[in-house]
Amino acid sequence: MVGEAIRGRFPVFRDKVYVNSCSQGALSDAVRAAYEEYLDGWDENGAEWEHWVERSEAARVAFADLLGAAPDDVAIQTSVSAAVSGLISALQFRGERNRIVISENEFPTIGQIAHAQELRGAEVVHVDPVPEAYAAAIDERTALVCSTFVSYRTGALHDVDSIYEIAQEHGALMLVDGYQGIGAVPLDAGKAGDVVVGGTVKYLLASAGLSFMALRPGLVDELVPVQTGWFADENVFDMQIERYRPHRSARRFDAGTPPVPNIYAGVAGVGLVSDTGVPAIQAHVRGLVERLLAGLDDLGATLAAPPGGPLVCIRSTDAPALVTELAGDDIVASERDSNLRVSVHLYNTEEDVDAVLAALARHRRLVA
Ligand SMILES: Cc1ncc(COP(=O)(O)O)c(C=O)c1O
Repeated sequence: MVGEAIRGRFPVFRDKVYVNSCSQGALSDAVRAAYEEYLDGWDENGAEWEHWVERSEAARVAFADLLGAAPDDVAIQTSVSAAVSGLISALQFRGERNRIVISENEFPTIGQIAHAQELRGAEVVHVDPVPEAYAAAIDERTALVCSTFVSYRTGALHDVDSIYEIAQEHGALMLVDGYQGIGAVPLDAGKAGDVVVGGTVKYLLASAGLSFMALRPGLVDELVPVQTGWFADENVFDMQIERYRPHRSARRFDAGTPPVPNIYAGVAGVGLVSDTGVPAIQAHVRGLVERLLAGLDDLGATLAAPPGGPLVCIRSTDAPALVTELAGDDIVASERDSNLRVSVHLYNTEEDVDAVLAALARHRRLVA
């Protein structure tokens, strides 16, 4: 279900035009109920340890289904930062192959984690966010290639398939940060890269504190993280302190106590996305983005980049002021890098798009 058919499940739409899924997906009745289920269980039974482990495995299966991966290749994480730090802790940056190639469109956490590896011998190379620039930078010295899927700052969709091919030709590992697209644009974990990370805050319609990392089949055998914890053990119930025995599956990246409340919410949020299906969401989103682009063209607005997914970034003369003006019109949007960010999802309608366009016409002086 999309548009009017599902909108009633997201109370924010009673009084607002919500076009800010790039910051956080809207709260649904299902996610609220999932939190209540967690709290009720806590009240009634205390620590429902076994049920929590079961929920954690349910989240793993839900993420795996969404990405076309096997559950054994998916790690449950608390953030993309934790996932990428765990992954990178399994890589060596000694010797010839010590380079990390990242694009100018990466989320700050990717750049900061990459540069932190300079302390371990890595060299970080920044490139323009296009395959040709990646191709010029990737060679036999490249250990890791990082590409976002949809840029959080321009809305551009990266050609991850082509970038992955280049990485493979040179024997480099490829990491895709799918946070800004997964849930609204189909992403096949196996084809997009060796490792795909993302989380539930945005198009997966849940809240902060739950992320995932999907590994290409077989890759887990090559990676031994030194950022670890008891949930990464071959048997979490062994409770031993004598050795390090990472789990044979991607659970070796799981680390500490799972983020239980967020897992309840995450399973519910991903469930809403899967019930509709990402291809159907993508088609709906595409129609709305086309309508928005036509209206922006009429307004003479400039885009940060041609959008390839649910996020449209519009140049502004004063983006924070524009966000404030829109908030006064009951339109929830956000800004980054002098751009207004308008993002649409399964619950948005043509009326939302028209309301945004009408408001931008009223505040035309703030549109560059
Ligand atoms: C592309 C992208 N990556 C990562 C993140 C968040 O990373 P973390 O889960 O570490 O907070 C965001 C959130 O805004 C994002 O847009």
